Amino acid sequence: MALGAEHGSDKAILLVSSDDKFVDGTRRFLNGHKVFVARNVSDAQRRLVEETVHLAVLDTSFGTETGVADGGQLLKVDPELPVVLVVDNPEMSVLRAALRVGYKDVVDAPVDRPKMEAMLGLIDEEAQRVVLKEAKTQIGRVVTIMSPKGGAGKTVTAANVGLQLAMWSEPERVVIMDADLQFGDISIVLQIDPVYTIVDAARDLDDLDEDLMRSLLTTHPSGLKVLAAPLEPSLADEVSTQSVVRSIAMLKRMFDYVVIDTAPFLDEPVLSILERSDDVLLVVDMDLPSVKNAKLALDTLKLIKFPFEKIKLVLNRVNSKARLDIGELERSLDLEVQAAVSSDKLVPRAVNEGEPVVSLYPRSRVARDLRAVTRLIVDENVTPNTDSGEGSRKWFR
Ligand SMILES: Nc1ncnc2c1ncn2[C@@H]1O[C@H](COP(=O)(O)OP(=O)(O)OP(=O)(O)O)[C@@H](O)[C@H]1O
Ligand SMILES: [Mg+2]
Repeated sequence: MALGAEHGSDKAILLVSSDDKFVDGTRRFLNGHKVFVARNVSDAQRRLVEETVHLAVLDTSFGTETGVADGGQLLKVDPELPVVLVVDNPEMSVLRAALRVGYKDVVDAPVDRPKMEAMLGLIDEEAQRVVLKEAKTQIGRVVTIMSPKGGAGKTVTAANVGLQLAMWSEPERVVIMDADLQFGDISIVLQIDPVYTIVDAARDLDDLDEDLMRSLLTTHPSGLKVLAAPLEPSLADEVSTQSVVRSIAMLKRMFDYVVIDTAPFLDEPVLSILERSDDVLLVVDMDLPSVKNAKLALDTLKLIKFPFEKIKLVLNRVNSKARLDIGELERSLDLEVQAAVSSDKLVPRAVNEGEPVVSLYPRSRVARDLRAVTRLIVDENVTPNTDSGEGSRKWFR
């Protein structure tokens, strides 16, 4: 689809650059829009006075703290103008300076079509933000996916529930936080390439505000946002429980749904996350070790008086061959099964394709099951398109 068609062709973009290669390279993705080129800041200021401009893009020569301050002069002419800086090496000091000055985003070079689409999206976002500011601040719902057993299907559940929520509500209002700090793989499952991660939030905890948090998120093509896990296991140590907790508090204020994927333990960070969750999806695989671990975890949660009404038991990889008695499982865990997800080879296939099964194979049985899981946490006031013929749910066919 032509970009012009998606965002309207009536936008005026100001490229601030004296580098012809940058101008030509960027202009390629602006078909259908009006493009102004300013060679320097004073040239750009003049344009802003003379023309209506919807977005300004600064080239990599502004990618230093002094450059950022220099580019900030544009906001003196038009304080509402979305300004985006393109940088060669995304450095936190430059990012911080840019946010302080009031830029809307910092994007790593080279500009390509998806990045330009995201920049053009800022024009609409800015208009929307004005409306949102007037709306009552809403506190988002925190949904945590947990399982004390590795490989139970937490990440698959988190990615599918997150994307399904995004598909049912406004995609921009849903965030997935990957709190599996050592081996988080939400980014792989969603095939996104994060520049910043939760490590940057932890390193900048004192300065962490909503604008900085927003710029640390990675956007999935659907619009869904992701706060990615550290890119290497060794960096997990830098992410304190306090920074996880602060990030959740902030994301709750910014989004309607915060979906959190966790590590397969019941350690301090996971317990702190659970304490701050509205819903906990306990994913249990159809084998005895999984059931045993779930029981031990529930015993611990009982000891700390965790409110059990928040816990929703989700069986994964359900198939008739497992020969595990559901009634017995429910009695042993003292919890009712609230949803069950079939075992299906489409799941690993979708994982390898980098697209969750609810969007890659939406008509499959397993996608329907995952939609049923998502429905456990959707507010009553949102009415998703329900799948037909699921009134009387049977776990085994
Ligand atoms: N319903 C299912 N049917 C078939 N395969 C599944 C299903 N659910 C999960 N899997 C597969 O099981 C593997 C583990 O799933 P996943 O990564 O979601 O588990 P996890 O609980 O996040 O693991 P970890 O504890 O290591 O983070 C994946 O390769 C996934 O494709
Ligand atoms: Mg996982």
